[in-house]
Amino acid sequence: MTVIDWDKKDVLNYLGTYFPRSYAESYCIFKEFFRTHVGIFTGKDNLSIFDFGCGTGGEIIGFLTAIAESLPEINNIHIVAMDGNYHSLRLFERVLAEYSKRVNLSIKHRVLPLTIDDFYDLDIMYRVLSSGSFDIFMSFKAICEFVTKDRFEKQNAYAHITNTFLPRIKENGIMVLVDVSTYNNVSQEWLPRMMDAGIAQAKCSTLLKNDGYNQVFTITHQKRQKDISKIAWRIIQKQ
Ligand SMILES: C[S@@+](CC[C@H](N)C(=O)[O-])C[C@H]1O[C@@H](n2cnc3c(N)ncnc32)[C@H](O)[C@@H]1O
Repeated sequence: MTVIDWDKKDVLNYLGTYFPRSYAESYCIFKEFFRTHVGIFTGKDNLSIFDFGCGTGGEIIGFLTAIAESLPEINNIHIVAMDGNYHSLRLFERVLAEYSKRVNLSIKHRVLPLTIDDFYDLDIMYRVLSSGSFDIFMSFKAICEFVTKDRFEKQNAYAHITNTFLPRIKENGIMVLVDVSTYNNVSQEWLPRMMDAGIAQAKCSTLLKNDGYNQVFTITHQKRQKDISKIAWRIIQKQ
């Protein structure tokens, strides 16, 4: 399954499935990170984030909620949200507009509607961002689609994306990699193992991660009771 090919109806459905899961995962991960890494953004009143494969942006809303609760000194957020699915980006913008009315944060955003077919497209995106650097780079359950579509000619997609974006992270900034913890038939490898192997190829250190290869989240929302989500996540920093 690759969400990039979904039409508007599929994406609307997504709002009742993936969105609340990504929201909850992101909220819990960032709450835990800010609890265990007090002072990481001390002295700042603004944060810039880049979301690679944001979809409808559940993880962005989860992140903003965690920020509002845990780091009250942060007043301004700048978001760059990249995705190749236009329906998702439109919905994300509508959700963010509604959310912005309800939270005491000044939020500026820019969407990057871009499909990354291969190395060259990733390079183009990197150049588009040439003057930008970010406090937080995040990617939730998107790199798995690069693996499934073998976008990087059998190279480890986590390594490639980590190596590409680490130079765009500010001093003390972090990269948050989250993906489903399934076996991938194209790479013939478990995705969390691939993620760890990819991170090991980059000049970075791991600040926080889930135990082992899998964390189970149980999410209850308006449309579903006890929805189960299984992910692996790693928070890394450049050395
Ligand atoms: C499973 S969804 C996850 C979306 C969101 N991060 C979340 O957790 O709800 C994967 C996203 O990655 C995007 N994506 C996958 N392959 C892509 C590519 N080659 N270029 C740009 N976006 C891509 C899809 O359009 C989709 O929105």
